[in-house]
Amino acid sequence: VGGEGGGRDLVRPAADDMFRLGTSEAVREAVTQRRTVREFTDEPVDPAAVRRAVAAAVTAPAPHHTTPWRFVLVESQAARVALLDAMREAWVTDLRADGKSEESIAKRVRRGDVLRNAPCLVVPCMVMDGSHTYGDARRDAAEREMFVVATGAGVQNFLVALAGERLGSAWVSSTMFCRDVVREVLR
Ligand SMILES: Cc1cc2nc3c(=O)[nH]c(=O)nc-3n(C[C@H](O)[C@H](O)[C@H](O)COP(=O)(O)O)c2cc1C
Repeated sequence: VGGEGGGRDLVRPAADDMFRLGTSEAVREAVTQRRTVREFTDEPVDPAAVRRAVAAAVTAPAPHHTTPWRFVLVESQAARVALLDAMREAWVTDLRADGKSEESIAKRVRRGDVLRNAPCLVVPCMVMDGSHTYGDARRDAAEREMFVVATGAGVQNFLVALAGERLGSAWVSSTMFCRDVVREVLR
């Protein structure tokens, strides 16, 4: 507190004002504040904030009252290294099969550093429990797509909730390209 006791003392800068926005403005701002961040500070990430964001994520809409989201929080250093090493190996195998040179492979694989340098890794997974089987390709594909988009809605909720926690994030899709490897490593 302090100051001269005048009205001016009550004015605080917007950055220090926890109640700067009304509810609808705050919701809108959280949505638009989610921007992809690919370089992170070394400030620790509060595990409780990540759990609050997961709780918000799983309020996304989903088909037939299902809950297709699972968020794997990769919190141990050993699990992180095992996952990223296995994913890198799978990526290199794909690039070699494409006929890429070792030099170009090394260059591409360095782009995976965004995950190595992130202070916190979360792997969203889709489960199709409760999905319908129609037995024809058109409707079975549509059913699966419904689950995929619902999973995406959950991921977006998660990232928006992280932005609300003042945490930056990047949605990196590489797990989708080596799903067998990810399933095996994360069991
Ligand atoms: C399904 C999906 C996959 C993405 N995969 C990657 C990725 O593999 N690597 C990456 O750096 N960004 C990835 N992004 C983030 C986009 O590049 C990013 O959203 C886009 O550049 C727009 O920037 P913004 O999120 O800040 O609006 C992905 C986004 C989505 C929705």
